[in-house]
Order: sequence, then C-alpha cells, then structure tokens
Amino acid sequence: MTAKTILLTGATDGIGLATAKMLLEQGHTVLLHGRNAAKLDTVVNDLSTLSGGGHIESYLADLSNMADVEALAKAVTEKHKSLDVLINNAGVLKAPETTTAEGLDIRFVVNTLAPYWLTKRLMPLLGTRGRVVNLSSAAQAPVDVKAMAGGAPMDDMAAYSQSKLAIIMWSRAMALANPNGPMVVAVNPGSLLASKMVKEGFGIAGNDINIGADILVRAALSDEFAAASGKYFDNDAGQFAPPHPDGINDAKIAEVMSAIDAVLVDIV
Ligand SMILES: NC(=O)c1ccc[n+]([C@@H]2O[C@H](COP(=O)([O-])OP(=O)(O)OC[C@H]3O[C@@H](n4cnc5c(N)ncnc54)[C@H](OP(=O)(O)O)[C@@H]3O)[C@@H](O)[C@H]2O)c1
Repeated sequence: MTAKTILLTGATDGIGLATAKMLLEQGHTVLLHGRNAAKLDTVVNDLSTLSGGGHIESYLADLSNMADVEALAKAVTEKHKSLDVLINNAGVLKAPETTTAEGLDIRFVVNTLAPYWLTKRLMPLLGTRGRVVNLSSAAQAPVDVKAMAGGAPMDDMAAYSQSKLAIIMWSRAMALANPNGPMVVAVNPGSLLASKMVKEGFGIAGNDINIGADILVRAALSDEFAAASGKYFDNDAGQFAPPHPDGINDAKIAEVMSAIDAVLVDIV
C-alpha cells in the first residue's frame, strides 16, 4: 500500500494514540493532533522511535475553542495540498468545566461541532477520494437542539450521548451532500475500551484499546470501507448496522443540521 497522509485528532491518549502507533508502523505520514503542548511533545518523541518509517507532524489545538479549530485547519492547509484521511477521534465525556466561553456544552463543541467545522474546512484537501472517519459511540440519544445551542448545564452522559448521535447525523448529511466523495463514515470503536475516558467515566480498566485502533485503521484504509459513505459501523457487533433511528431520519437530520449551522454562525 502506498503511504497515506492522515490527520488524526486526539492522538495523545487512548484509542487515538494506539491508532497513531499502528499507522506509523505501517509507514504512513501521520499528522498528530493534541491540545496540550507538553503531552503532544512527549508523544511525538515516543512515537518517533517506532520502526516502520512513518513520518510525523504535530499540531496543537484546543477543540473546545473554535478559533483553535479554524487555526488547525489553516495550519494543515498551509502545509498540505491534499489529505488522504481525516480521523475525527478527539472526544470528551467528563470535564472540570463543561460550559465553554461561548456558553455551549463542551461535549457538543468537541465531539460534534469542532469535527464538523474541521471537516468542512479540509474538504478541498480531501477531494473526492479522501476519507473522513468520525468517532461515535454505542451511547446515542436524541439531540435536543436547544441544548446544543447552549442552555442549562447538562448531565455528562446525556450531553455525550446526544453529541455522539449528532456526529452520526452530520456524517450522513455530509455523505449525502457529497455523493462523489469523500467517503464519510461514523464508527463506534467498541464499548468500554481501556482509555482515560472510560477510567474516569466508569471507574473500570476496560477492554483492549487496540480493538478501537484496529477498526479506525480499517475504516481509514481498507477496501471494506471504500463504499461506506453515510453508513454507521458498530464495532460491538463487528459490522455496519443501523444507528439510533434518528440517525437515519432525514427530517430530524435536517433539523440538527440547521441547528449546527446556526450555532456555528455565532461562534466561528
Ligand atoms: N474508549 C471507549 O470505550 C470509547 C467508546 C466509544 C467511543 N469512544 C470515542 O473514541 C474517541 C477516543 O476516546 P478515548 O476513549 O481514547 O478517550 P481518551 O483516552 O480520553 O482520549 C481522548 C483524546 O481526545 C483529546 N481531547 C479531549 N478533549 C479535547 C479538546 N478539548 N481539544 C482537543 N483534544 C481533546 C484528548 O487529549 P488529552 O490527551 O490532552 O486528554 C485525547 O487525545 C472519543 O471520541 C470517544 O468518545 C471511546
């Protein structure tokens, strides 16, 4: 396989870090994104000793801040004419402060809005042959568009589950709007995998993190995902599957897309 250029958000821990290792070992160029400069530097140093010959670049951005998302898109665009794959992996369940400076819930911003904006801004680089792999979850709940636009503080799991259905919804909308590509797929990487998020959220060690990394690598590169645009892959079931019914309800998707665009007009 020829080496690909892959932007991976949230590459400093958990599933993202494990995915970065696999991609580099296969010789790909991996654009590692992190939000903490020191942690990102450590990861770059650690991964640069891997065998496999993959090339590393690093990008710093706090995805709860849309100015940083915009700056990330610009930095990647300045350095690259094309991108083979964007893996929108960064995500948050619990945070010390759950309301952003703009008054939005951090789960909606990091898990739904930031990847949407980043993907839109990188569409020219992805072209029709690129792939976008969006991290969803088995946790999916109907999206309260008023809550997404900023409202009362939300329960962690409610906000997380809504943000993870919302990313399935915009993945389908973007896939339908771009029938010639790029391929846009939403993936549940597997439940309760051994990451910091799972330890903090559920107090358990969790299952092998490579279950998640394996499926992200397959979604990014393998032929089985070439025609997956608009679909949802459930790695708990090991197959493409229907998401929550709202995730394929085009009226509800249109409502969520309008809400996403309205929020973004105010904050980008
Ligand atoms: N683990 C599971 O069982 C599971 C199941 C379903 C879905 N997922 C999804 O898989 C993805 C990866 O999660 P994980 O389990 O590997 O969690 P994790 O270990 O907590 O890693 C999350 C990654 O996202 C980054 N991140 C968090 N907030 C950010 C922000 N504001 N700006 C930029 N980056 C940010 C983290 O950066 P730091 O390193 O600086 O914290 C880290 O690199 C998430 O989207 C999650 O929702 C995980």
